Amino acid sequence: MSDDRIADLRARKDRIRALGGRERIQRQHDAGKLTARERLDLLLDPGSFVELDMFATHQAHHFGMERVEAPADGVVTGYGTIHGRTVYLFSQDFTVLGGSLGEAHAAKICKVMDLAMRTGAPVIGLNDSGGARIQEGVASLGGYAEIFYRNTMASGVIPQISAIMGPCAGGAVYSPAITDFTVMVRGTSYMFVTGPQVVRTVTREEVGFEDLGGAEVHASKSGVAHFVAEDDADCLQLIRRLLGYLPQNNLEDPPQSSAEDDPARMDDGLNTLVPDDPAKPYDMAEVIRRIVDAGSFLDVHGHFAQNIITGFARLDGRPVGIVAQQPQVLAGVLDIASSTKGARFVRFCDAFNIPLVTFVDVPGFLPGVGQEHSGIIRAGAKLLYAYCEATVPKLTVVTRKAYGGAYDVMSSRHIRGDLNLAWPTAEIAVMGPEGAIEIIFRKELAEASDPGALRAQLVAEYRAQFATPYIAAARGYIDDVIEPRETRPRLISALAMLASKRQSLPKKKHGNIPL
Ligand code: HXC
Repeated sequence: MSDDRIADLRARKDRIRALGGRERIQRQHDAGKLTARERLDLLLDPGSFVELDMFATHQAHHFGMERVEAPADGVVTGYGTIHGRTVYLFSQDFTVLGGSLGEAHAAKICKVMDLAMRTGAPVIGLNDSGGARIQEGVASLGGYAEIFYRNTMASGVIPQISAIMGPCAGGAVYSPAITDFTVMVRGTSYMFVTGPQVVRTVTREEVGFEDLGGAEVHASKSGVAHFVAEDDADCLQLIRRLLGYLPQNNLEDPPQSSAEDDPARMDDGLNTLVPDDPAKPYDMAEVIRRIVDAGSFLDVHGHFAQNIITGFARLDGRPVGIVAQQPQVLAGVLDIASSTKGARFVRFCDAFNIPLVTFVDVPGFLPGVGQEHSGIIRAGAKLLYAYCEATVPKLTVVTRKAYGGAYDVMSSRHIRGDLNLAWPTAEIAVMGPEGAIEIIFRKELAEASDPGALRAQLVAEYRAQFATPYIAAARGYIDDVIEPRETRPRLISALAMLASKRQSLPKKKHGNIPL
């Protein structure tokens, strides 16, 4: 072959790698964003990226596109490795037609998604796009639909992670919304179905990009974003860390790492962590951090519905999914947001063979007209359904309150918890002493000469008799009451015991989770 052909090939590739040109790259950098290719370099193990479809581009017959050059059609796709394991990727290039999605762009994304499904490896999408490419009209709408369909088929088969690193607007938001985890970058990313202008026209509300669909809003209010990153580099590092807990696909177990923390380690501080006064809060995040392998806890959805904690951790090197009430926020009550947050996390863990460890301190479901009218019944049922359906090993530790229906919901023995432990501070009953006394002794209290004194006496009696773990333990609903300090070794031993757990569900097309 002549040197000319090689030189020609190299020149063509260089032109494509130059993206939308120096000026637009500068604009991208000035906006605090990296380019599509710089992002892949940071995300992947060094030198592991292999690009596909570099030469793919739009068809010239599209409206106004005859003389438009669109290197790689505005999206870089391919595969590479993270921690030595294969992942498939697409990285939208805002410097080429605003990263807008046309026919070829969509076909490239679909190709890597199909490869990921055939080989059983995660897909990571780095989104930075003006949405449907206006010039390509319905072909770009079709392209989106092809992606949505694949997102849905891949759900529960391979992990799907979306990073929002710029605009993501209109129907384009529904691909990240179907994927398992969404990371947004503070200050440079936004997501909305309709932007500020349309909102102004339709509802007369004045709102800016950030307040309508910025990272903070979606992390704390809507719950669309699971993580907020400080900048592009932080976002990409976070994705690398997240993948460390996940299996490649639903047929594999999550990756076990060599443990750097003593599996037999006990923590005396746990014995005094829960206050004697049941009305006093304590930090459940601290409980979790003391029990799991040192430094291994990754808070998922940490800004949203903070009365429940969901996240990944390791116990003796084995990844687990943690679900726990946070008594510091709304006393750890289950409301609509926390039930929905917990349910989706439980279902992810179950789909990907990640054992669930649940720490329970729940006073019940949140009372109120607002909650009832907005559907706490439906939302609570999601969490209940998710736990009932989960067949991964389910370990439960009741640290304090487990009252009413919430006791049943939170991975109780009755819905097939595999190991249910309680601390001596556990209170497992139909309802708390104060509420119970008012109902059972309404007449006596109304007729008492000193209702205050009688109430205090009855509450104390009820508490002594019912607000303990021992009635549940006497029936075998609780397998053991343990000292809090022993929790880590007990959970680690249970995980090893349950490693061979096999449980199957009745044959069906799919269940009908109350959505
Ligand atoms: C074609 C687009 C484009 C689009 C941006 N560009 N969006 N080209 N189709 N959808 C091009 C611009 O022409 C410009 O090209 C370059 O990208 C950068 O855009 P700017 O406007 O200069 O950037 P900026 O000021 O940062 O604003 C970004 C933006 C804005 C807010 C995203 O571009 C914008 O509003 N775009 C339109 C968004 C939109 O309405 N999309 C359709 C949504 S509906 P040059 O050549 O100057 O660099 C949708 C439906 C999905 O997506 C359907 C799923 C079912």
